[in-house]
Amino acid sequence: MSNQHETPRNRGAMTGWLILGGTALGVLALGILATTILERREEATFNKLTIKQPITQWESDSSKWGINFPREYDTWRATAIMDGKTEFAGSVERDHLANNPRLVVLWAGYAFAKGYNAPRGHMHAVDDVRNTPRRNEKTVATCWTCKSPDVPRVMARDGVKEYYAHNFDHYQADMKNPIGCADCHNEKTMALQISRPALKEALQRQGEDIAKITHQEMRSLVCAQCHVEYYFKGKEAHYLTFPWDDGLTAEAMAKYYADNPHTDWVHAISGAKMIKMQHPDYEVYMQGIHAVRGVSCADCHMPYKQEGGVKFSDHQIQSPLLNVENSCQVCHKWGEKDIKNRVFSMQRKHHEMSTQTEDALVNLHLAIGEAAAKGATPEQLAKPRELVSLAQMYWDYVSANNGMGFHAPQETARVLSKALAIASEGRLILATVRGKLGLGAIAAPADISTKEKAQAFIKPFVSAQKAKLDAEELAKKKLGSKL
Ligand code: HEC
Ligand code: HEC
Ligand code: HEC
Ligand code: HEC
Repeated sequence: MSNQHETPRNRGAMTGWLILGGTALGVLALGILATTILERREEATFNKLTIKQPITQWESDSSKWGINFPREYDTWRATAIMDGKTEFAGSVERDHLANNPRLVVLWAGYAFAKGYNAPRGHMHAVDDVRNTPRRNEKTVATCWTCKSPDVPRVMARDGVKEYYAHNFDHYQADMKNPIGCADCHNEKTMALQISRPALKEALQRQGEDIAKITHQEMRSLVCAQCHVEYYFKGKEAHYLTFPWDDGLTAEAMAKYYADNPHTDWVHAISGAKMIKMQHPDYEVYMQGIHAVRGVSCADCHMPYKQEGGVKFSDHQIQSPLLNVENSCQVCHKWGEKDIKNRVFSMQRKHHEMSTQTEDALVNLHLAIGEAAAKGATPEQLAKPRELVSLAQMYWDYVSANNGMGFHAPQETARVLSKALAIASEGRLILATVRGKLGLGAIAAPADISTKEKAQAFIKPFVSAQKAKLDAEELAKKKLGSKL
């Protein structure tokens, strides 16, 4: 037998070759597996579907669809369940401001400093937008857009422009149903469809031919109707717009907002004109390896599920880490614990980088604010303000994105490092200004160790800002009545 002649050294080399060969086969197998899985998903499952109870166009009541598709309906309803916690996410109540009070300072003067919670399951969308402390009598109808399948229904009834121009409260009675079937499906064929104009318009402005979109791309684009960065264009129109004309990266958006000036709010401490990024999940995902390899949002967040020999898409959209067996393990043949630990380790590193950037941003806002209070001129502060605003926009592109860096780890690290570099540049320029005023380091670092302390700390700044704005408003009105 040949192994009788094997020396230990030989055996070592043999094992090496076996491992190498095994790894190569494994890599090949993953490649083949991923390809066949993706191809299988290309097969039209829809032509085997029968719609026994016809569904009317823009039917927003998902239970009417559910009569035909009980499995999808039942799993969809399960997005209401709130008992799955992961290290950084999951279906639990999470108060971002309490977990990270720096955010209160970063958003001083803006509604996000009052309340900002982690996203919950789709079934909660309508209740949560009604109950957020960010909402007031001035809130616009556009805020309903990513919460309910009643939106495409009223858009078809009232007109898209007209819908956006209305007030939030105007549609209180209309918005009954949380995110549901009509948001993603055609009622006659059940094919995936884009029900929201903002995504179609953004793709068209990029020169994309909507007719050429593949089925696999649609499995992400249905999510991109809502899980994206957006802004409300026009003071009166509030027209929902995605800033995608120059691309999906943080730099492309910075360029877009430079060419199409827009300010979400003026920072109450530093006086910088700020832009708030909103969950650019699709944009960030597009920079990662999974998007490059054609893995869609649905592959991880809506994996196939077996029930009595029937295979269907699990409509309980949630953290895939609560369902590793059906999601990741379909393609990655490693243990569940290993997969989770790998993700947590990526997320912890991301969290560390993010926190460092936040500290730098908080510091810069405070330093600019103090310089302004001690007599620095708007001209002297123009550049530091511009830089703190840009740095915070880059940080927010990453921070507002869900998944704690998982969707594109390298890209989010790159953008955070850029944010930190811009903040440092702002700090250097400001140091010269502060030096001229005889200011050293910030007097006493504010105690912002809890949400309540941070909110108390920003309060005088926010009140002063409001008093100044009110006085300006009054002066304008008086001037108007004299003319
Ligand atoms: C390769 C798998 C994968 C793909 C593809 C993917 N995600 Fe995720 N997603 C994850 C993981 C892993 C997390 C982190 C979950 C956690 O920390 O519990 C996550 C987190 C999220 C969260 C936060 C979940 C929570 O519980 O708060 C949202 C929202 C999300 N993803 C949306 C999307 C969207 C939209 C797309 C497509 C544009 C997408 N994901 C593509 C794996 C994926
Ligand atoms: C957020 C988007 C979204 C919502 C909301 C949604 N679906 Fe789906 N649905 C999908 C995706 C993605 C697929 C996978 C389609 C594919 O690749 O063929 C799918 C597949 C299906 C299929 C095809 C069979 C299967 O399970 O793969 C049926 C039937 C279906 N959904 C019914 C429903 C019903 C009924 C509702 C409402 C209770 C609903 N869907 C809500 C996105 C959604
Ligand atoms: C019509 C808009 C809309 C569409 C379409 C949509 N989402 Fe969401 N999604 C939301 C909103 C809004 C929330 C937060 C709801 C809340 O907190 O009440 C959310 C929450 C989530 C969460 C967090 C769930 C949890 O348990 O923490 C995940 C994950 C998610 N969406 C993934 C997806 C994926 C994947 C798709 C596409 C298959 C998709 N969403 C399509 C609007 C949408
Ligand atoms: C449909 C198949 C598919 C699914 C589902 C999937 N992946 Fe992947 N994953 C891939 C492919 C393909 C790659 C790229 C590997 C390659 O091509 O060498 C990859 C790469 C990775 C990497 C390496 C990332 C990097 O930046 O180098 C990690 C980590 C990973 N996946 C984790 C996960 C986790 C966690 C899940 C579940 C939430 C998941 N994947 C779901 C196919 C998949």
